[in-house]
Amino acid sequence: MGRATGSTARYLGFLFPMAFLLYVNHAWLPVGATTQELLRGFTATPDPTASSFQPLLHNPNGTFSLGFLRNGSSQLALAIVHVPSSEPVWLANPTRWARWSKPTELFFNGSLVLSDPHTGVLWSTRTDGDRLLILDNGNLQIQKLDGSGSVLWQSFDSPSDTLLENQNFTVQMYLVSSNGLYSMRLGDDFIGLYAEFKAGLDQVYWRHRAMEERGHIVDGNGSIYARISPNGFLGMYQTETAPIDVQAFKTFQRPISGIRRVRLESDGNLRGYYWYDSKWVSDFEAIDEECELPNACGSYGLCLPGGGCRCLDNRREYSSGGCFPQESGDFCNVRGENDAINYWVLRRAGVELPFKELMGFEQMGSLEECESSCKSNCSCWGTVFHNVSGFCYAVDYPISTLVSFGDGSKIGYFKVRKIKEEKKRGVGVAGGVALLVGAVLIFVGVAGFGTYRMWRRKKTGHGIFMEEQGLSHDSYRELLRSSSFGAVELCKR
Ligand SMILES: *[C@@H]1O[C@H](CO)[C@@H](O)[C@H](O)[C@H]1NC(C)=O
Ligand SMILES: *[C@@H]1O[C@H](CO)[C@@H](O)[C@H](O)[C@H]1NC(C)=O
Ligand SMILES: *[C@@H]1O[C@H](CO)[C@@H](O)[C@H](O)[C@H]1NC(C)=O
Ligand SMILES: *[C@@H]1O[C@H](CO)[C@@H](O)[C@H](O)[C@H]1NC(C)=O
Repeated sequence: MGRATGSTARYLGFLFPMAFLLYVNHAWLPVGATTQELLRGFTATPDPTASSFQPLLHNPNGTFSLGFLRNGSSQLALAIVHVPSSEPVWLANPTRWARWSKPTELFFNGSLVLSDPHTGVLWSTRTDGDRLLILDNGNLQIQKLDGSGSVLWQSFDSPSDTLLENQNFTVQMYLVSSNGLYSMRLGDDFIGLYAEFKAGLDQVYWRHRAMEERGHIVDGNGSIYARISPNGFLGMYQTETAPIDVQAFKTFQRPISGIRRVRLESDGNLRGYYWYDSKWVSDFEAIDEECELPNACGSYGLCLPGGGCRCLDNRREYSSGGCFPQESGDFCNVRGENDAINYWVLRRAGVELPFKELMGFEQMGSLEECESSCKSNCSCWGTVFHNVSGFCYAVDYPISTLVSFGDGSKIGYFKVRKIKEEKKRGVGVAGGVALLVGAVLIFVGVAGFGTYRMWRRKKTGHGIFMEEQGLSHDSYRELLRSSSFGAVELCKR
């Protein structure tokens, strides 16, 4: 089972925000135009006239449809969509999109295969089945037709960002947010949400341990699994007899006629929804404080509890997406240079890590000791020191959002990579040069105008009055001075 790890997947993920999926057109082909079962020999290619979704197969009651989902004008994913809402609930190839054009082909030869003659097989179930169908719960299955009806493959076993009601989520599975940044997996006794802030490093930012109120985890009874119950909760189980944990939704134990789903969203939250009155209503949120999201205000952002975003660096205006460019990697092995050349240090008091209780720390005697442990470690991006407890938290991934925390006893130390800054400085110098050139032009203009006026004064005799209104020689010298001063200011920034 492929999981979207590695930076390629991450950056590919960036390019395909879920947003486009919201624009999926409701006006599809009638469900009757497709079929409820596909057999060996089936092939399909993308239809250039299909605006957003091209259905190929649907379940008996028509709620779910498998087909080609468009991303922009040229990209294609094989998807299962909840028909009434047009919401995709499963993608075969979330990190490797195909092209919406003829050479892309879907066929079923025992395996369901998405291929393109240029890149070859993009995605395959690698099975030897006889038929393909979608069950009423939204599960796409490849079955054998030898009387046993055995299931060789099912989409429920390789979810993308969504879990549907009654879908078992096991320790072998992952949910990955559509932007590829966040994932959900199970541990021995917990559900964890992880952020891949740095390639190969998964930082846990939310963890829910089994309460073991009704059932207990028994060694040797197998791994745990999770499932959304029609009764309105996310349950953890070890056996079917009783859940070992129940995370109740707002509609806990309330009969709901529509289906339920949870999705790991692009902001890193896990949200639950139920289908009611022709829309999805949210009834569960793993993280309910915005500042506790893994990266609420972007890189080097500062989240104010209940009050939006700022920049860690007070001088910068906050804009969504963060205050400094999103970084990757660390400061190790940068062309053999001294680390200190590659970054400058940003300090800020009154900040807190958003999920510090899930991060490691060391007790240290002083702020200086805490900071220097990071300074001398090229894989460290920053620290937050609590001067009352002496706890020193090291951040070993590029700095994301911090949380504003009233008193000044928590002091942040953050490395900011220089390379990008130098480019900015280059722009600053260019701006300064432009200003100087502008000033010279004004000088030439004013001098020219002065000459013209002198010529006119000679002609008209109204010179003295006009001289007072216009720019004197001293004024444009002042203008020139203030312009070059501005350029110096820009250079310093
Ligand atoms: C189905 O097609 C794929 C891709 O061409 C191929 O690798 C696979 O062997 C085929 N499977 C069967 C059962 O023929
Ligand atoms: C989920 O797992 C349970 C226990 O193994 C099983 O009885 C049930 O059929 C599974 N459900 C699905 C949809 O696979
Ligand atoms: C450097 O920092 C990383 C991440 O914080 C840590 O795992 C590692 O042990 C540190 N190395 C040293 C030599 O302190
Ligand atoms: C912690 O830092 C704050 C702000 O700098 C300071 O006022 C306070 O005295 C410090 N406390 C200790 C125990 O050093």
